[in-house]
Amino acid sequence: MPFSIVAGDITELSVDAIVNAANSQLAMGGGVCGAIFHKAGPLELQHACDSMAPVQTGDAVITPGFALPAKYIIHTVGPVYSPGQAAQCAQLLRSAYLSALDLAWENKCQSIAFPLISSGIFGYPKAEALDIAVTAIRDFLKDHDDLDVQLVMYDRTAYTVREELLEPVQRYVAGYYEGTDKISYEADVLYDLIPPHEADAEEIAQAPRVSYRRKPAKPRLGDLEHMISDLDEPFNTTLLRLIDAKGMTDAEVYKRANIDRRLFSKIRTGKGYLPSKRTILALAIALELNLDETDDLLARAGYTLSRSQKFDVIVQYFISTGYYDIYDINKVLFYYDQPLLGAS
Ligand code: APR
Repeated sequence: MPFSIVAGDITELSVDAIVNAANSQLAMGGGVCGAIFHKAGPLELQHACDSMAPVQTGDAVITPGFALPAKYIIHTVGPVYSPGQAAQCAQLLRSAYLSALDLAWENKCQSIAFPLISSGIFGYPKAEALDIAVTAIRDFLKDHDDLDVQLVMYDRTAYTVREELLEPVQRYVAGYYEGTDKISYEADVLYDLIPPHEADAEEIAQAPRVSYRRKPAKPRLGDLEHMISDLDEPFNTTLLRLIDAKGMTDAEVYKRANIDRRLFSKIRTGKGYLPSKRTILALAIALELNLDETDDLLARAGYTLSRSQKFDVIVQYFISTGYYDIYDINKVLFYYDQPLLGAS
């Protein structure tokens, strides 16, 4: 997928470029910088860096990766955090990401991995650093195709998401498992099991988001031919119809879905290719479908939203509240150690 958050050690990644959280002198430091120098070969890397220092805060330079699996190292200089100059720090941190991305693009990289710049020794609060990183990357990817960007979290336990985004999801997920949301679950089950005329009228009236799914009668053998000739509209036809109805361009859809352009065109042509459930949910988010529309789109590919999987419950929360920012949703999914939305 074009953007993902991953856990791990950036020095082990076989990508075109890894980004170093550097200082202006491009001197070997601690943190991720120390790890990169050690693995790349400190002498060779320092020699290459010395010819390019100093580098202004917010700027970046590129060197070979030397002994690293990555082809290049892009050294970008984030700001030292100062609470009294928060706006200026935010601007410099954004610039550090964009400078590195520009360099990767100029050097024809197809994949790049970032650590969370400035969030260690330079003291940037992690949730804010994450927001700035993700927004800068998203903005860059709006005008650039075919670049995979990973944000690498070394210390999984220190990963945090802005409170206003996370807290309502935490409440929803906790409520779901503790039974706060049981009423809607029971209502659906009730409807699934008995026809509506047998259900209590008041229960039906009060039940939120109830759908009675008619169970198809068991087909007789003679009906089979008719049923096959009368299949529902296939997945990709429905998808194209929805895209038209929403008046979106293909590029808008695959970018908002965090899906690779090439994968999207494969889905579009539909020739025997069935996307994964995660990809379809990403498309549902991109198209801002409501829950019924999402259920319908999933069903056309043979999938369903489960009530017993955390991933599904979280995505369902965002869809039901009409919040369709896939980058924010992925921040929360990563927090819950769930797979992210987009192509696998
Ligand atoms: N892979 C990925 N991320 C890592 C790794 C690693 N191997 N090691 C550390 N990190 C993470 C930290 O957990 C932190 O979230 O990188 C993030 C950035 O932390 P720092 O490396 O401390 O970078 P920064 O805060 O930008 O400070 C830069 O530190 O090492 C010096 O020379 C560097 O002076 C510069 C300053």
